[in-house]
Amino acid sequence: MTATAQTASAVPSTVPALEVKDLVVRYGRGRRARKDVPAVDGVSFDIAPGETLGVVGESGSGKSTIGKAVLGLQAPSAGTVKLNGQDITSLSLKQRSRVVADLRVVFQDPYSSLNPSRTIGQTLVEPLRLMGIRGADALGRARAGLESVGLPGDAVDRYPSQFSGGQRQRVAIARALVCEPKVVVLDEPVSALDLSTQAQVLNLLADLRDQRGLAFLFIAHDLGVVRFLAQRTVVLYRGQVMETGPVDAVSSAPRHPYTVALTAAAPVPRPAEQAARRQAREAAGFGVAGAAQPSATGCPFVPRCPLSTDLCADQRPPLRLVDANLAACHHAERVPAL
Ligand SMILES: Nc1ncnc2c1ncn2[C@@H]1O[C@H](COP(=O)(O)OP(=O)(O)OP(=O)(O)O)[C@@H](O)[C@H]1O
Ligand code: SF4
Ligand SMILES: [Mg+2]
Repeated sequence: MTATAQTASAVPSTVPALEVKDLVVRYGRGRRARKDVPAVDGVSFDIAPGETLGVVGESGSGKSTIGKAVLGLQAPSAGTVKLNGQDITSLSLKQRSRVVADLRVVFQDPYSSLNPSRTIGQTLVEPLRLMGIRGADALGRARAGLESVGLPGDAVDRYPSQFSGGQRQRVAIARALVCEPKVVVLDEPVSALDLSTQAQVLNLLADLRDQRGLAFLFIAHDLGVVRFLAQRTVVLYRGQVMETGPVDAVSSAPRHPYTVALTAAAPVPRPAEQAARRQAREAAGFGVAGAAQPSATGCPFVPRCPLSTDLCADQRPPLRLVDANLAACHHAERVPAL
């Protein structure tokens, strides 16, 4: 399948901290991989220094695969990834070690992402060693890193099991930031935390971003969480960008039926509101995740979309400007207000 140009772009006055262009990722090898639907299919975006771009979508929509391609953990099948203007798409492992300090990651699960047999100090010093920083200098930076995320510096001597989930995620953030990166991939960094801890960690991330001018690629299921931290967002479905734009506009006035369905499906703390949303979603006629396979040439949302027509099954809609957002929908003007 040909990758279409699907761009989420700010108007950066400087070189973007991160630039992804026409990214395609297929898992597997050989004929099987060529036949399968790509996990990521023609995705483009850029992130300016100090900016957060949210990536939202249901489970399996390709969010983590984008993160893995950016981090060099999964080779792209096509497209480019640039860090501070430098093409890092096909760096060898050795070459990548030179950019590793500028590009860091925080994963979802604070329990599995920290090695239980290593002290927090050993965990924080490890990435510094790759940069040639050792001994007392490295330990001093590890202590300062812990203090910057609200933990005591002497936590370097403790083990992960001695911390709560929220505290472990602070350690994971300190580990990401101790190298003073330019770009951080945050793959569902608060999904495993309870609501009040989520808010604390999101506030911490916002403060650190603003103090240090960090660019965040912030991956989440939920537009509500993304809205807290991001300026712009990309809504992903089956590896393709359905809608993108300023996060407030995408959340409050979506122009793509999938964004409407995603917003209506987002969990809310009040059961009555949750039930009302579910009824509204059912009344609107949105199908469920895992519905029938769409045609390869048309819009991927056809099997679930109450607005679909023959045109939708025949032609894949390009992203186009509708109000404040770019939406990949032939009938975006007919999408009902939330
Ligand atoms: N290592 C892999 N090998 C083969 N297929 C994979 C692999 N990792 C992911 N996939 C497939 O690629 C698609 C995208 O997966 P990905 O993990 O990027 O989704 P996601 O949006 O991050 O989902 P979640 O919200 O559940 O984390 C899915 O269909 C998934 O099954
Ligand atoms: S292009 Fe058609 S099927 Fe796709 S989201 Fe728009 S109305 Fe629905
Ligand atoms: Mg994921």
